[in-house]
Amino acid sequence: MPDNHSIPHHIAIVMDGNGRWAKKRFLPRAAGHREGVNAVKSTIEACAKAGVKILTLFAFSSENWKRPKTEVVSLMDLFVASLDKEVKRLVESGVRLQFVGDCKQFNQKLQDKIAEAEQATSANSDFLLNIAANYGGRWDIVQACQTLCKQVTDGKLPVEEITEQKFSEYLSTALLPDPDLLIRTAGEQRISNFLLWQAAYTEFYYTDVFWPDFDEYQLQLALDEYGKRKRKFGLTQEQIEASSDA
Ligand code: FPP
Repeated sequence: MPDNHSIPHHIAIVMDGNGRWAKKRFLPRAAGHREGVNAVKSTIEACAKAGVKILTLFAFSSENWKRPKTEVVSLMDLFVASLDKEVKRLVESGVRLQFVGDCKQFNQKLQDKIAEAEQATSANSDFLLNIAANYGGRWDIVQACQTLCKQVTDGKLPVEEITEQKFSEYLSTALLPDPDLLIRTAGEQRISNFLLWQAAYTEFYYTDVFWPDFDEYQLQLALDEYGKRKRKFGLTQEQIEASSDA
């Protein structure tokens, strides 16, 4: 059913522009990623304050392995350091942390930190923070197909029972509602293999601001724009109005 609430329940963000933010300041790219962590913190707080319940951040794509090895290593180290430093605060502030993506490809230390962080925050329910790490929308669809096909060949699932709803249950985001709003920073206007299936009816918002400069004010601009959108989900405007009058 159409959901036209003015505050999005679930926001997804492609955090782009860390490198350009650093370059503009003659700093190494790693400094941009470090500053990006501060923007992550202020965005979580600003989302929670605004009434958003779920935030999904694209932290590392399946394609990011192709970056220079030094950058990949520094990102892995940053993820470990951020988890070490921030998990206690997440626990105290009611945030549940979950990772979506093929985390088995990460080094053992990072996998252990992820498991510990998910476990430590598992009882929290005020706000859900999903970190998409080693995530790709195509990977997600393919891994769902593989699991479904196995169920079919094992005789556990009749092919006719594969519906859109059923398929969604096999994605890595199975238990999450689809994002209402997808924000991408740093001026690029593309989805870059993020939540391909899940973003079918998501509203897109692009800003030229580099991710490290994204803050509560920038979030408010995105929310203001979202509030003006008319989500139709394939229906006519008249049908939407009739259903909200009912
Ligand atoms: C894109 O900017 C950013 C990334 C690939 C990494 C995102 C990671 C963080 C913000 C670090 C912290 C995250 C968490 C969840 C602890 P880019 O490097 O592609 O920027 P550019 O396009 O300007 O080069």
